[in-house]
Amino acid sequence: MIINSPSAGRGFSISSKDDGAFADSNESSKAQTESERSEAIGVLARKLTAQSIQSSYQSPFTAEKGSRLDPDSDNFNSQAWAKAFYNVRYGSDEGVPARVAGVAFQNLCVEGTGSPTDFQSSVGNSVLKIPALFRRGRSRIEILRGIDGLVLPGEQLCVLGPPGSGCSTLLKTIAGDTHGFTVHPSSLINHQGITPKEMSTAYKGEAIYTAEVDNHFPEVTVGDTLYFAALTRTPRIIPGGVSREDYASHLRDVIMAMFGISHTRNTRVGNDFIRGVSGGERKRVTIAEAALSYAPLQCWDNSTRGLDSANAVEFCKTLRTQCDVFQSTTLVAIYQSPQAAYDVGYYFPCL
Ligand SMILES: Nc1ncnc2c1ncn2[C@@H]1O[C@H](COP(=O)(O)OP(=O)(O)O)[C@@H](O)[C@H]1O
Ligand SMILES: [Mg+2]
Repeated sequence: MIINSPSAGRGFSISSKDDGAFADSNESSKAQTESERSEAIGVLARKLTAQSIQSSYQSPFTAEKGSRLDPDSDNFNSQAWAKAFYNVRYGSDEGVPARVAGVAFQNLCVEGTGSPTDFQSSVGNSVLKIPALFRRGRSRIEILRGIDGLVLPGEQLCVLGPPGSGCSTLLKTIAGDTHGFTVHPSSLINHQGITPKEMSTAYKGEAIYTAEVDNHFPEVTVGDTLYFAALTRTPRIIPGGVSREDYASHLRDVIMAMFGISHTRNTRVGNDFIRGVSGGERKRVTIAEAALSYAPLQCWDNSTRGLDSANAVEFCKTLRTQCDVFQSTTLVAIYQSPQAAYDVGYYFPCL
């Protein structure tokens, strides 16, 4: 059997050498065989087209040294890299489709519990706290009341409010991190058909909350911290035959280049007691670690705290790129940032 591809035409035609075998079959079965064949050829053609489209994108994993996809080069362009990465990861037949997760919330009411007066426990006054153990003498504190909103995939929401107004509570509630407070049963939260309960069980890791404080293993180096973060989010099937290790280390190098922390690869992260990277660098490690998740729904709680204005703007641009290229949904509580950070493209509700 010979498959011909006519140069002038777009499709494929097929001719068979052993025509004699079909000569005595009736007309209807002949037509059926023809249609089956043309269908099979159609599938083959579509597959070839998809492969040729994919091969026309340059893979960021095999980028030339010094090109704009090389994280170690001065020409590195984060936006071009993000597009190339998206095309390789999601644009091929082997890759899984990109996940997106918008969020809608209606009549969001959140309550905490507390006592009207609180005091430092000591041996003498600890007896007074016994009723509180049985939830006596504790009153409900309303933190959020009747908040409505809709954030679609690819959109950014900036949450603004004075301290104590409930910004962190709103972000935590949407990300499903409701430990320590209660969401009222009348509140509706919906992640494009997925309930918050399903989101925090079956799709754990797809909605993330990045807290204001940096929490790391202080003895581990920055490079290892980020490598581990990338490794945990490696897809089961990596298109292009890249190994898990190469995939994770490439992503680590890229995110370190984006946030200007490549020089700290072998430095310990540290904390208040163990000397490690500086406070601003540690904050960028926290951001990089969360950004490596490429989660479809990301909540960032005052992540620009302690950053210089250039890095705060870079953080906002990185989120914007993730929204534009990966269609992620980001909710950001942001304070003390330069105007350029807000100009990246948010819209603002205020609490
Ligand atoms: N679990 C809780 N129980 C009681 N009150 C809480 C609880 N969590 C937060 N609060 C109170 O709710 C208010 C809003 O908290 P939060 O969301 O952290 O504010 P923001 O992030 O805007 O500064 C604060 O006054 C805080 O004390
Ligand atoms: Mg807060």
